[in-house]
Amino acid sequence: MSKKEAAERILKLRTLINEYRHAYHVLDKSIMSEAAADSLKHELSQLEDEYPELITPDSPTQRVAGQPLTKFRSVAHSQRMLSLNDVFDESEVDSWLKRINKLLPVNELFIDIKMDGLACALVYEDGVLQQAITRGDGFTGEEVTMNVRTIESVPLRLNGDSKFTKGRTEVRGEIVMYKEDFAALNAKREAEGQALFANPRNLAAGTIRQLDAKLVAARKLHFHAYDMQRQNSNDVPSHSFAYDSLSELGFIVNKKYDIVPATAKEVISVADKWEEKRHDLPFNTDGLVVKVNDRSIYERLGIVGKAPRGAVAYKYPAEQSTTKVIDIIVSIGRTGAATPTAVLEPVVVAGSRVQMATLHNEGEVARKDIRIGDTVIIHKAGDIIPEIIQSLPELRNGSEQPFVMPKQCPECSTELVKLKADEAVWRCPNNLCPSRVQNRIQHYASKTALDIEGLGEKNVITLLGAGLIRDTPDIYGLTVEQLLTLDRFAEVSANKLVNAIQAKKAPTLERFLFGIGIRHIGIQTAVDLARHFHSIDALSQVTVDELEQVDGIGSVVAESVVAWFGDPDNQRILEQFKNHGVIPQETQQVIGSLTDKKFVITGTLESMGREAAAEEVRKRGGVFQNSVSKDTNYLVAGANIGASKRTKAEKYGVEIIEEAAFLKLLED
Ligand code: IVH
Repeated sequence: MSKKEAAERILKLRTLINEYRHAYHVLDKSIMSEAAADSLKHELSQLEDEYPELITPDSPTQRVAGQPLTKFRSVAHSQRMLSLNDVFDESEVDSWLKRINKLLPVNELFIDIKMDGLACALVYEDGVLQQAITRGDGFTGEEVTMNVRTIESVPLRLNGDSKFTKGRTEVRGEIVMYKEDFAALNAKREAEGQALFANPRNLAAGTIRQLDAKLVAARKLHFHAYDMQRQNSNDVPSHSFAYDSLSELGFIVNKKYDIVPATAKEVISVADKWEEKRHDLPFNTDGLVVKVNDRSIYERLGIVGKAPRGAVAYKYPAEQSTTKVIDIIVSIGRTGAATPTAVLEPVVVAGSRVQMATLHNEGEVARKDIRIGDTVIIHKAGDIIPEIIQSLPELRNGSEQPFVMPKQCPECSTELVKLKADEAVWRCPNNLCPSRVQNRIQHYASKTALDIEGLGEKNVITLLGAGLIRDTPDIYGLTVEQLLTLDRFAEVSANKLVNAIQAKKAPTLERFLFGIGIRHIGIQTAVDLARHFHSIDALSQVTVDELEQVDGIGSVVAESVVAWFGDPDNQRILEQFKNHGVIPQETQQVIGSLTDKKFVITGTLESMGREAAAEEVRKRGGVFQNSVSKDTNYLVAGANIGASKRTKAEKYGVEIIEEAAFLKLLED
């Protein structure tokens, strides 16, 4: 990039980052996530590193904090409210531990989830709530007592009679809005055509700074305590003691905190434990808080800058980042759906490299106004598919190209069509389109369908490319000799694949039905169809009316099934399966211990994943549902279940059982 181009880019980045900072720190609004802003800031400081002469004192890289508002009374904190320094991996945890161990020997760490809300200090005198103060700049905060009093999880008087209910006790914690309540509120606002809130943290922060306490009471906020301070610091010997006492005094605390020996390995093992589970927590979290458990050592380690030496925030890899759209291509799925897909400059998000993101359909590209050449914010969490949240039009330089949906299939040049005029999706109607065939075969071999090991994307492409197969049934004709003519295969791998395919000649009817890829037929619908009709031949003859009689089958599915079996191309495919000796097993009505019992599973189970649990239910004749309805028999509540599922279950009188009781049912 030339100096002139860099100067232009720098100016645009600064303006946008400044807008973000002002909105976030001063107005409690968010125009993008913190991680996305960090990513822009990173680009800015790289450019400034390259051209140091372009650095100005007003650059966001040169400033630290925003301006306070003055709506509420300012109150000084008795002890400064600190921040935490971030660490990102084992070696950074290790360096931190080495640093502090040089000062004082540390043997025990206390670890809790880092909640994404806003910090608040509650002052109790003789057990009665006197004041609630926001963090502010750490030295001085805003008095928001009236508002905080409306939060039901804040005790107005401390429980019990102990030294903590005498004199002054300060309790610190995080005010959070739960993800579920946030989603419900935003859904309501969307329906009413109101502007949406960016995230639960901002909504909670915005709510606490409302001058009208009635408004605060109407929003569901929660206070989770994490710290307790007394004049005599000996009153609180350790962080774990503080949590246990806080719990007794009537606060919400995370009772599942960890205490581990002070090594980086131990910290990482706790981080790994929470890595996936944290998504099931009711609030957002982007990491852990790791503290020296012994409070006297913690205090003596002192403060450096704005943070205590004796604690760090362990951060999970960022789930948002910015990158550029290099191109927008159209890919064709197994049902012919033409999906615009963004080709991105590769970037690491949530620990994995992302270079593609689906844009769903033409309308979505237009709605988000994503152009080729745009800088965009992408989001990825856990094993969720990466998604483009928004484009940043402020950073355009005029060379960006709007996306135009092609009229023809990019794979086979067939004209794209819409099945219904009001549908958002364009489709390639050619059953033999190479892309559709490839995806069809992959789907047939996938885990939930026939589960043929070794028949993934790469091998399917190779086999089609070599002309050894032309459609799904052909896989059953593959021989070891044929595979050995290909570079990808040797004796062992060729035998393995042929055996894996041959082993799947008598699949269960439901897996086969799901595997042949009829639109709208998920695995549970396939189970329902199989249980009712027992064979492919019976299904071939069925009418829409007959299908609609079946429990759980609506008109969309019914029409799709009849259309699929009515298509001569598909009849030919079924014939080919038969010729290769593929005979789906007629599914007998499973009369098991759970016959016709309907289950919904929510939260995480300790003993097995959701799919495995569903399989266990089905094996015993039960039905697995995705959401609670009137006819649900059991709601299995795993760890961290959301309030709304529970309320719904209670409303319908559905029995709520814990994991242990569920496992017991499986034993019977
Ligand atoms: S302990 C020095 N525990 O994170 C402050 N803080 O970046 C250490 N936070 O302002 C406090 N969850 O508001 C602690 N479980 C937790 C926390 C937590 C969120 C916030 C806190 C603090 C910020 C530090």
